[in-house]
Amino acid sequence: MTETDYQRLAGANGGSTDGLNLGEVLISKEKIHERVAALGAQITRDYADRAPLLVGVLKGAVMFMSDLARAIDLPVELDFMAVSSYGAATKTSGIVRIVKDLDIDLGGRDVIIVEDIVDSGLTLSYLRKGLLARHPASLEICALLVKKEQQRAQINVSYVGFEIPAEFVVGYGLDVAERYRNLADIWVVQNKDRP
Ligand code: IMP
Ligand code: MG
Repeated sequence: MTETDYQRLAGANGGSTDGLNLGEVLISKEKIHERVAALGAQITRDYADRAPLLVGVLKGAVMFMSDLARAIDLPVELDFMAVSSYGAATKTSGIVRIVKDLDIDLGGRDVIIVEDIVDSGLTLSYLRKGLLARHPASLEICALLVKKEQQRAQINVSYVGFEIPAEFVVGYGLDVAERYRNLADIWVVQNKDRP
């Protein structure tokens, strides 16, 4: 996908989703449910006798975080942070501004960052450094989706839901210009202007 396509898809000019079509379902709600349950079981085993703190990145991770938390059979705690990229609205710069910080102190905690999707990996890599400076006992990353061959930053994602092709996707929390977050399945977005 070119940068121009990406900007148009993300509704850089006023957040319009005109000119966009949903393509096909990439991952069905049944598949999502099954995979989230498996991730929850894995985290339950890995963190036995501990009380991990799930840190969700708003807003995309909200649906995933709420399902994942219920699939973990441990006394988890939940917190959220919101970040925005500096620079052009739709191009990840790698410099991230914290728009809403966490309420819970990370000191000595077993922290799991919960993200919707890792594209270049720049956002997460910046976030990870920032959170490590708060001295958690451990810090792992759980991402529902990882785009194949897109990562520019070296980050270790311990828990991956699905590896997907380098397409723009929406649904189950993921948006274009704030739309489509409430779709139960994950869809590929198509640009009507393109053949
Ligand atoms: P990164 O820094 O390039 O990894 O950017 C990741 C962020 O870009 C995600 O948290 C999403 O907010 C957004 N993003 C990247 N790809 C998609 C996509 O296909 N659909 C919706 N949002 C996306
Ligand atoms: Mg996001």
